[in-house]
Amino acid sequence: MHDDIPAESSWSPTPGLTVARRGFFGVVAAACAAAHLPGASPAWRTRADGDWTVDQFVREVTPVCKELVADGSGLGQDRYLHTLAAFAVRLGEVPVPDNAKEVAHGHRIGSNHGPDPFTMLHWILAPGAVIRPHAHTYGNVVTLGLTGEALVANYEQVGALDCERTDEIEVVRVQEQVLRPGDVNLVSLARHYVHGFVAGPRGASGLDITTRIVPRRKSPTLVVGEAKDDARRTFRAHWKVGE
Ligand SMILES: [Fe+2]
Repeated sequence: MHDDIPAESSWSPTPGLTVARRGFFGVVAAACAAAHLPGASPAWRTRADGDWTVDQFVREVTPVCKELVADGSGLGQDRYLHTLAAFAVRLGEVPVPDNAKEVAHGHRIGSNHGPDPFTMLHWILAPGAVIRPHAHTYGNVVTLGLTGEALVANYEQVGALDCERTDEIEVVRVQEQVLRPGDVNLVSLARHYVHGFVAGPRGASGLDITTRIVPRRKSPTLVVGEAKDDARRTFRAHWKVGE
């Protein structure tokens, strides 16, 4: 799956965020060689490594999730999300649901399970397709990569989160990640609560396991502008409600 990004190419989802394939994988290959790990080229797991069906995953994880979800604090959500992720990585092949529909150009969504105790949204992105950065304001998310590769960026508003603001705000890019099969990205209401995706040249798919923590409210798009402070990885931005 790591061959999805052509050699010596680069791709950029938002200002200042660019992944250069050669440098990234060169570093990983060197690290594997130095550690005497099998395979000089990075051998990421495939979904076939997993051994759980969706039904088995839901059955196994539901009791512990129902216990942990009761604590909606930042720490409680961290415990919940990391626990859910520890179960989710055991998933094997996850079929594209029959209910998958195109919601935007090159972007399909279906559901493998839900809504209790969580919804398992299955997203499929065509090559280069984009899910624009958006805030999760009432539910947290475990994203699990299934196929292909997508570049994921997470942001937080500097200072208190205030999605009602219409003027310019400052955001910090707290995380950027090449999401491959078996990789996990976490979004809680307290941290990393904005995420956006750009599919690699061969597309990508994954699961967003979403759990509502507080009553439903607006979840605006984040429009990320130019860099403000490179050292702190901050950007000028504004919220755009209704998309
Ligand atoms: Fe999302």
